[in-house]
Amino acid sequence: MGYPDVRLRRLRRTAAIRDMFAMPVPGPEKFVWPVFVVEGSGRKEPIASMPGQFRYSADELVKALGGVVAQGVKSVLLFGQMERGEKDECGTAAADPAGAVQRAIPMLREAYPDLVIITDVCLCAYTSHGHCGPRDATGGVDNDAACEMLARVAVSHARAGADGVAPSAMMDGQIAAIRAALDEEGFKDTLLVSYSTKFASSMYGPFRDAENSAPGQGDRKGYQADFRDGGTALRESAFDEAEGADALMVKPALYYLDVLSKLSERTDLPIFAYNTSGEYSMIHAAAERGWCDMHDAARESLYAIFRAGATCVISYWAPFYREIFC
Ligand code: PBG
Ligand code: ZN
Repeated sequence: MGYPDVRLRRLRRTAAIRDMFAMPVPGPEKFVWPVFVVEGSGRKEPIASMPGQFRYSADELVKALGGVVAQGVKSVLLFGQMERGEKDECGTAAADPAGAVQRAIPMLREAYPDLVIITDVCLCAYTSHGHCGPRDATGGVDNDAACEMLARVAVSHARAGADGVAPSAMMDGQIAAIRAALDEEGFKDTLLVSYSTKFASSMYGPFRDAENSAPGQGDRKGYQADFRDGGTALRESAFDEAEGADALMVKPALYYLDVLSKLSERTDLPIFAYNTSGEYSMIHAAAERGWCDMHDAARESLYAIFRAGATCVISYWAPFYREIFC
């Protein structure tokens, strides 16, 4: 049957009808706010490439979270930055119990006992060369040495009280290595949220600016997934599931909704979609020029990610939940 017997416009004639047939509004509890933690106190520094986002010292983050938690957002993903001490070849400082992330966790926990605190586990903000693991003799990243280091970092975060650790280095075997280390240290309840399908992407530019973590030489194509090879990208998630990840991830989100959709059909694990810095800042840049309405564009993009099958979305829009959805 077709027109004129079928008239699809009946399904959207009034706002109330449209609301009835719409998917549920994604609640604030579905959002994770990725946020940058620096050392010291009294620091709240704007990030030029990410309007509305700041680098916070732990005390300032506690304050900033008040307004975010009040909107119903229940989770943060912490990224650390280091100024004390030196970056080295192996990124040793990432596992420092006195590092910015390790110190911030108990302070956040005290202020917000129910906050779901997840930490990014990687080495690129701590290595002198800016890669996600130590280099080998050929200048590539030494996979197995990286896994050992990542396991130490994850344990240091768990020891500080993180609810979940999220390894983002895209090393083979990192999930198994981290799970084994957590178990060995008695952290049997720590969630392992894998950045399982993470592409080498130009959508990370503003983040690398914020984190000062761009590789000095070369790129990350030797370890992050190739966007031209969707098959291997999906296998990455299957491997991490087999290695014991509690949740999977697709990153970036918006250019990879097909991958997200396929993955959601193949797995029963929760899937995080990472709405990256580039996806966030592009909308800001366009809105600044008057080329779109910022909140409308953000809302549409976030609905798209949930429609494609995301369970939760990691997004810099999280602190703006009310303005976008209410
Ligand atoms: C570090 C890491 C990156 C992001 C999250 N963890 C950058 C990268 O891999 O180069 C990107 C986040 C974003 O762009 O919002 N491994
Ligand atoms: Zn990294």
